[in-house]
Amino acid sequence: MNNALKQCNIGHTMIEKDATYLSIMDHLATAVLLFDENQHLISINSAGENLLTVSKQRIIGMTPHQIWPANLFFIEAIKKSINADSVHIQRGTELNLTNNQTIKIDCILTPILSKNKSRLVLLELLNTNSFSRVMEELNQQTLQKAAKDSLQGIAHEIKNPLGGIRGAAQLMERKLNDKNLLEYTKIIIGESDRLRNFIDRMLTANTHSIRSDISIHEIIEYVISIIHAENSRKLNITKDYDPSIPNIYVDREQTIQAVLNLLRNAVQATKDKDTISIKTRVLRQVTIQNKLNRLAIQLDIIDDGPGIPSEIETGAFFPMVTGNAEGTGLGLSIAQQLVQSQGGVINYERKNKNTYFTILLPIRKFNE
Ligand SMILES: Nc1ncnc2c1ncn2[C@@H]1O[C@H](COP(=O)(O)OP(=O)(O)O)[C@@H](O)[C@H]1O
Ligand SMILES: [Mg+2]
Repeated sequence: MNNALKQCNIGHTMIEKDATYLSIMDHLATAVLLFDENQHLISINSAGENLLTVSKQRIIGMTPHQIWPANLFFIEAIKKSINADSVHIQRGTELNLTNNQTIKIDCILTPILSKNKSRLVLLELLNTNSFSRVMEELNQQTLQKAAKDSLQGIAHEIKNPLGGIRGAAQLMERKLNDKNLLEYTKIIIGESDRLRNFIDRMLTANTHSIRSDISIHEIIEYVISIIHAENSRKLNITKDYDPSIPNIYVDREQTIQAVLNLLRNAVQATKDKDTISIKTRVLRQVTIQNKLNRLAIQLDIIDDGPGIPSEIETGAFFPMVTGNAEGTGLGLSIAQQLVQSQGGVINYERKNKNTYFTILLPIRKFNE
């Protein structure tokens, strides 16, 4: 027998009878499934039931084909592993759940030889979605901070000489006798002011927040009214509000600006027949910016447009990254900075042919 093939004491009957073993399995965070040599599922732990959102009673005895009819990977991998002599590790496999959701998982397939010499396959599934979301957030935060720091440096370098140019143009204006030349000084002053405003806008998130107790739904309604006023075309905006959401303690203006930037993008990404959905939910025990929050709000702005173009997807939250000929590329970066400065985060996800921009904001009391 090949050394890599594990000799193991786990027999069919033993698995079902050994209470200690089963209880340990049920305490594991990793989903563990065991298939017999005919590829029938003979054991699944609680994490497995949770991950696959199915009960033990329903799933025991099923084949990979019955469990994952649309997922060739599992059907093939388990079939191969029955006769394999080494462990197979697969990262980032997509797994369809019974509720039509797709999640990313890492899996390990271990062929086992049981005491009675029958071959088994142990399948471990690790849901990487939640883990990688936290990692992605941390990466994003580091990158965002670097982008913000360099932006501030650039802004400073531009604003100083700009003040000098404007001042000199004003002095010149006073000394000029030729009225025709005044036109040019006006342009210099006007353009200096425009550039200064542009730079200040890039750094809006650095302005001091003034927090108050506000309803997120009131903010959304206000933003929707601005969006309707801005757009002459018909917009299909559907709302799915969680009425139990408590008020949040945030800066009203900054939150309006962040939601407005996301909703504007959704409008720009959709055509007449497309739909934009706005959904609110309360989340419990959620980690945002590396901090565990007892309560948070989740605000999804979902559209069924094409999503961020792939060539700019990774950098879309950075300043000056745009997919629109007329865009400034500042909307997402400003929205992210505004939300982060209030302890929250904005995530982007493309799933089931929809574009999701999700704002997570901690629900804090006045004195927190
Ligand atoms: N809901 C969306 N659907 C598709 N693409 C989007 C969406 N939101 C943002 N984008 C893409 O991200 C880019 C950056 O957005 P943003 O930072 O707001 O800058 P701008 O809107 O000025 O281009 C957009 O140009 C667009 O290509
Ligand atoms: Mg925009």
